[in-house]
Amino acid sequence: MTKSNVYILAIESSCDDTSAAVLENDKVLSNVVANQEVHKQYGGVVPELASRAHLQNIVPVVDNALKKVGIPKEKISAIAFTQGPGLMGSLLVGTSFAKSLAMGLGVPLIEVNHMQGHILAHFIDEGNPKPEFPFLAMTISGGHTQIVKVNNFFSMEILGETLDDAVGEAFDKTAKILGLPYPGGPLIDKYAKEGNPKAFSFSKPQTEGLNFSFSGLKTAVLYFIQKKTQENPNFIAENLADICASVQHTIVEILMKKLQKAVKQTGIKQIAIGGGVSANSGIRNALLTLGEKYGWKTYIPEFQYCTDNAAMVGIVGYYKFLENQFTDQQTTAKARLSLES
Ligand code: KG4
Ligand code: ZN
Repeated sequence: MTKSNVYILAIESSCDDTSAAVLENDKVLSNVVANQEVHKQYGGVVPELASRAHLQNIVPVVDNALKKVGIPKEKISAIAFTQGPGLMGSLLVGTSFAKSLAMGLGVPLIEVNHMQGHILAHFIDEGNPKPEFPFLAMTISGGHTQIVKVNNFFSMEILGETLDDAVGEAFDKTAKILGLPYPGGPLIDKYAKEGNPKAFSFSKPQTEGLNFSFSGLKTAVLYFIQKKTQENPNFIAENLADICASVQHTIVEILMKKLQKAVKQTGIKQIAIGGGVSANSGIRNALLTLGEKYGWKTYIPEFQYCTDNAAMVGIVGYYKFLENQFTDQQTTAKARLSLES
């Protein structure tokens, strides 16, 4: 086999999406994602239910990803799987499945850090320009908020991160306070489009350096809503778009301020965003505007590669394959896994 036709089967199961993808080199041939509806009624991911749903979904999802491309299993060069970080029960399903399949097919196994996947998703070949090293990546998801200096495919330095809640939690918890179902981020984004971002103001946290804090914002929103609904029980219904626009505006300002600081500190003007929250239209627009204003080169992933997906695991797998970075059957899932390890 030449290095020019590498086929990676990738598996992602770190949180509440079961996903499998097949890549031919850096091109995605299939990327199947099964979302778990079961968590909607609980206002957040229930780990036990997530593991069970992964168990139900994993075989049909992998089968589907392979069938879509019509590639026989024998052609697979290696299996890449999300080792962590994430929910242990969820990770164990994907990890065990990947190990068994690799053993059955007699192909190498590749460990992938989920957050590295969110960052390297920019290297999936879609005909778009790719970031040049070194670049800054802001990873914003339901579990993480980090600013990372990406030196190359395998060397990443965390310059700053959240000290408490992730930015996705700020969106989802605000949505919960407003009575919206989980995950609330996309709904806040939707309603914000019709609202006035300056209708209400929320104080922003003062955090050192490039670190973030979002737990205070959640509490500020909660107290604000409690006070306003005491005065007017219909306050949420009558002001939903303005509340969403104002909270989103506050979050966008917090993120963009830190990005500006990171550019100043490092002198790097190549900026990529990644993770589920990078699907947010307010964040995407603000980044484009700042990029134009300050001459940054900005990289925004396609929607399908923002939220959790196996294609991003596959692209990391591809670059690791080229470097023979394989693991063995002793490998196990890691709920905590740093980008710097
Ligand atoms: O990366 P991801 O799919 O899973 C994690 O690794 O956490 O991110 C999920 C997060 C959720 O908090 C969800 O509400 C948020 O991404 N999200 C959004 C949008 N789309 C997804 N937040 C704001 N605006 C959106 N359009
Ligand atoms: Zn993620």
